[in-house]
Amino acid sequence: MACKPKYHACVIIFFLLFSVSCRSLAAEPEGHQTAVVEVDASWRNARKIPETLFGVFFEEINHAGAGGLWAELARSYLSVVLWCGVKGNWKITNGFEAGGPHTPSNIDPWGIIGAKSCINVMTEQASYFKRNNVALRMEVLCDRPAVGIFNPGFWGMNIEEGKMYKLVMYIRSKDSVQLTAKLTCSETSGQLQSLASASTQGIVMSNWTKVELQLLAHGTCRTSRLELKTSKKGVIWLDQVSLMPSDTYKGHGFRKELMHMILELKPRFLRFPGGCFVEGNRLRNAFKWKETVGPWEERPGHYGDVWNYWTDDGLGYYELLQANFEDLGADPVWVVNAGISHTDYTNNTSITPFVKDAIDSLEFAKGSPKSTWGSIRAAMGHPDPFPVKFIAIGNENCRLKQIYQGHYMLFYKAIRGAYPDIQFISNCDGLNGQLDHPADFYDVHIYGNATELFVKKDMFYTASRTGPKAFVSEYAARNGKSATLFASLAEAAFLITLERNSDVVQMASYAPLFVNDNDRNWLPDAIVFNSWQQYGTPSYWVQTFFSESSGSVLHPITIRSSYSGSLASSAITWRDTEKSFLRVKVVNFGPHVVNLTVAVNGLQAGVNTTKSAVSILSSSNAMNENSFSSPNNVVPVTRALPHAGKEMQVLLAPYSLTSFDLALEL
Ligand code: AHR
Repeated sequence: MACKPKYHACVIIFFLLFSVSCRSLAAEPEGHQTAVVEVDASWRNARKIPETLFGVFFEEINHAGAGGLWAELARSYLSVVLWCGVKGNWKITNGFEAGGPHTPSNIDPWGIIGAKSCINVMTEQASYFKRNNVALRMEVLCDRPAVGIFNPGFWGMNIEEGKMYKLVMYIRSKDSVQLTAKLTCSETSGQLQSLASASTQGIVMSNWTKVELQLLAHGTCRTSRLELKTSKKGVIWLDQVSLMPSDTYKGHGFRKELMHMILELKPRFLRFPGGCFVEGNRLRNAFKWKETVGPWEERPGHYGDVWNYWTDDGLGYYELLQANFEDLGADPVWVVNAGISHTDYTNNTSITPFVKDAIDSLEFAKGSPKSTWGSIRAAMGHPDPFPVKFIAIGNENCRLKQIYQGHYMLFYKAIRGAYPDIQFISNCDGLNGQLDHPADFYDVHIYGNATELFVKKDMFYTASRTGPKAFVSEYAARNGKSATLFASLAEAAFLITLERNSDVVQMASYAPLFVNDNDRNWLPDAIVFNSWQQYGTPSYWVQTFFSESSGSVLHPITIRSSYSGSLASSAITWRDTEKSFLRVKVVNFGPHVVNLTVAVNGLQAGVNTTKSAVSILSSSNAMNENSFSSPNNVVPVTRALPHAGKEMQVLLAPYSLTSFDLALEL
């Protein structure tokens, strides 16, 4: 049977279709609930959903970028155990700034290959790059055997047969350099198997020289490492080592499979780069965009002290703008630091540099290629501006209300003056009253357990209909660390409510988007990955049910049932390249099967039964999750809906999200 692995879902679909076709023969099973969903599909009462309703939120958290979406394989910082067993990381950029700019320092995660009597490795302040002044000095004392250093990558490098890998490194030496770069596999105990190899040609590099080598893999290994070895006596200095797969998404440096998973959500915006990552625990460790643009070799990187790891900032402001405009077709929502961190802040008299920094960031994105910052963008290969429309001033900073509002107004006045078309997102709450400062949006973050989120969704019905619009830039059902079907169904009901209240809520994104399985810091998340695998949690799959909602047309809906407290439903009309569809989504957040009547009134078009379909997200147990070993445990199943019509009798599975797509004959 075609859908054997998804046996339970198949049973549910069978159940559903059987009930549609043989309604009169179906006995009413015990414990069933009944409900009627009435859709008013007339154009008179329809309303357009904002184009930007659903997007994604990318934060550098859980190694989402470094060791994740950003495909760089050479890990550039070390893990250490700090006092009291708290794990942390120190940065050595792609260079060797372990433990900061002072030497001697630790070279971890790099390791040494060879006996002490044959090799001496130490850090020195000898780099060509002013902001990364630490380089590695490798003194080779014997002619044989070959000695050197290795990099283990982010919990192992995923090297795949037939793929090309580009190694870039900076080298200096008084003598000719014969250095061999190898990708080796340590999967089989003991012996290291070579997967790819290339060497420098024995050229003298008495000045720092950029060396590029192509490594073609003739084997696959998920836990490979990069080795740099020589069997020639002498001293070599090394710096800024990068290993990139050549098949990144559009050559933009993103890991393809992860990018494809974002693309499947069809996000209309991407909020970045945080979250708390923007704020920092201390201001000195906050994200500073100016240090993330220009050539990667010159970026100093920084320690993200909220999520406790360093990033080399290879994935910087430019790359994220490019991801929005050229890869995802999304609008960037650029979050700037408001001069406030988790533990310190500037006062109103010293905020000016932060305001200037935000103005400069907009010049970088939108300014002419001849402007100071626009010229850096142009030099990076993008003379055309990135037309940024949304700016958020700070993240969750309205907890310091007075300070925040004072800062906000200074940002507002300066940016509005320079860029009148920019839309502002305030951190203060406009749901329960009017803001006392001008803004286009107010930012709402909603976390709670599944039951709480299911209840909280209703707050939008009573939100103020005047003033700025709501941007729910972070939401998630959090029942401990698990990403269960149950939690995702609360999120589905929440999103249905956002659709229905999209006159007030005009943007929304789940948080966090990614987690690297080796750094499970904030759970749950939408997408889980390691160096070579990835899967969507049920929360991810729920979002795919909403990928057509932005810019579609919303229809009023009524639910009549004594069980309505466990149901949520919405109806939209959306178009693909060929056809229009009426999509009715229904969440059953309870344990009962529901005998449901879907009645569509006021529909001008006929229903094409051959092109109609139904998708269901459910499972045998509401607490079921996905995992690397069972990535498809809870995934949507889509089937034809031959009995589609303006009135349908169907059975809804317990704990399920069902979406009926009625193809319209217009
Ligand atoms: O999404 C994780 C964190 O939750 C974000 O960084 C922060 O804004 C929120 O508190």
